[in-house]
Amino acid sequence: MKKLIVTIDGPAASGKEKIAKYISKKWKLNHLDSGILYRRLALIFLIEKIDIKNINKIENKLKEIDQISFRNSNHIRTQAISKLASKIAIHNCVRRFINKLQYNFVNKNKKMRGFVIDGRDIGSVVFKKADLKLYIDVNPEIRAKRRYKQLIDSGEKSIYRKILKDIKLRDKQDKLRKHSPLVIPKGSHIINNNGSFKDTINQINILLDKI
Ligand code: DC
Repeated sequence: MKKLIVTIDGPAASGKEKIAKYISKKWKLNHLDSGILYRRLALIFLIEKIDIKNINKIENKLKEIDQISFRNSNHIRTQAISKLASKIAIHNCVRRFINKLQYNFVNKNKKMRGFVIDGRDIGSVVFKKADLKLYIDVNPEIRAKRRYKQLIDSGEKSIYRKILKDIKLRDKQDKLRKHSPLVIPKGSHIINNNGSFKDTINQINILLDKI
């Protein structure tokens, strides 16, 4: 049976993860958060002090890694890892490496009914032929306010203005990079997530009901 693929793209802190988790539970789809893979890789580069400006060093390190964890954790959600993940994501070799992990994951889990995958290039590059493509749209000030609350709630010290500045910087890095920049994927539905979560999932469930 053909596996259902739902893609969710959108900028930093747009709520992709929460939306993907909801879809995963309600529609019984396996959730893959591609941002976790970029964050895990960033953590490896940080711990091993890999010079991320040196493409040869990055390529050599990638050759040594055959699997990375798909597990989420607080220590890959820090501001430092967020920034580093966005920086390493500009390299084509890094993107190819992560894409391969995603294809393996989808092909390996054959018993699943389907997948909901979120990130920055999922509907535009990685799974172009997805059954449903969503693009999550939220203005930067609302994203910063939500991320600020999330960080404070998880015990991290935080300053709203700095978060807003970081979000705008990551938007710039993600949208302007040469390889697989963040775009609204062709054929995607733009979901307005400025309002309540209920309002957002109502928009999405109407689309999923039609598949
Ligand atoms: O979604 P996130 O905030 O966890 O992602 C962290 C960084 O990883 C993001 O700033 C850019 C990069 N990323 C990417 O380039 N492509 C993806 N599909 C997912 C994440």
